[in-house]
Amino acid sequence: MHITRRTGLTMLAGLAATAGGAGRAHMHRPAAPGGLQAIAASKGIRLGACFAWGMPGADRGSFANPAYAALLTRDCGILVPENELKWQALRPTPTRFDFARFDAMIAWAQANALPVRGHNLLWHQPKWMPRWAENHDFGATPRRAAEQLLVDHITTVCERYGTRIQSYDVVNEAVNPADATLYQTALSRALGGSTATLDLAFHIARAAAPHAQLVYNDYMSWEPGNAQHRAGVLRLLEGFKARGVPVDALGVQSHIITQGVDTRVHIAALEGEWRRFLDAVTSMGYALVITELDVRDAALPADIARRDAAVAAYTRGYLDQMLSYPQLDDVLLWGMSDRYSWIEGFEPRTDKARRRPCPYDRAFKAKPMYAAIAAALTAATPRIRG
Ligand code: XIL
Repeated sequence: MHITRRTGLTMLAGLAATAGGAGRAHMHRPAAPGGLQAIAASKGIRLGACFAWGMPGADRGSFANPAYAALLTRDCGILVPENELKWQALRPTPTRFDFARFDAMIAWAQANALPVRGHNLLWHQPKWMPRWAENHDFGATPRRAAEQLLVDHITTVCERYGTRIQSYDVVNEAVNPADATLYQTALSRALGGSTATLDLAFHIARAAAPHAQLVYNDYMSWEPGNAQHRAGVLRLLEGFKARGVPVDALGVQSHIITQGVDTRVHIAALEGEWRRFLDAVTSMGYALVITELDVRDAALPADIARRDAAVAAYTRGYLDQMLSYPQLDDVLLWGMSDRYSWIEGFEPRTDKARRRPCPYDRAFKAKPMYAAIAAALTAATPRIRG
């Protein structure tokens, strides 16, 4: 069945979840020798990172910055746009799409034979939707109009990029960690509720990109304070299964937070509950994707050597846990270099020392975290492909 932009929920309601969601791009780019992807590839894993648009030579985490591009081509086997595929970037108005920046990014990725993940088709929180969408007049038949808007958005993106995108974060961060309920947006209110909205998003994506892996992506993590968030995500994933919604994988964002210098002790305290969560997810049949790994160096001294050592050990412990799941094939970092990491703006350290969340420092020199990722990949059990 082909879903056109004219198709609404009524037609989608009868749509069976088609097979598909194979999820892995089959681009055969020999990994650069000596990089992380060379190790990952030997285990059937893909290592990747986010990247940005930029003017040629811009000091940004962009393909257009030769220093950053060199890290991408050296270490990565997959990329994801940091912001350029989000509604806020693509949808200046209800009727217009602006694809220029992402088009340039995917063209560069393709020229370098690097597959690209799609992030994201619906960031289900009012503050991450475009302002116009939150103030939108859905008219006399709001449900129809909201369905139309969602169908139009997802179908337009998926049809434009076709098989060039093999995996989508269809829905991002729908669960409110404060109380495990689903957020509401103006769109979901008009459409008849969050559950209907999220289900519809996945059905549209499956119809418009039947080849693609469809991911629910969220930041529930293993640190203390996440129990409620994890419970909400589990409930959502159970609901998807019960209703036959085509969701292939859980995207575990992995913005992890150090708990102190004694990483071994902290990891030992965290891993039991984390494993119970991942076991519950995988036993429902979902695959796992690490979509946005970086490290917030909390509860660590400013001293760089000690801080970097703890960040590296924490990364290693986390990746060992995650890679022990054969359902995990793709590991994406939310930035290769501290120089461009969003963490600095999102949550600066109280002592004003610069954050060090990424494998490369601000001068593009590999840090202990880089070696930790290499070691975790080296230790991983090879993935067996059917
Ligand atoms: C962040 C970007 O890194 C920032 O540049 C932007 O200002 C806000 O979004 N979870 C997600 C990502 O799913 O899209 C977020 O990216 C980080 C948290």
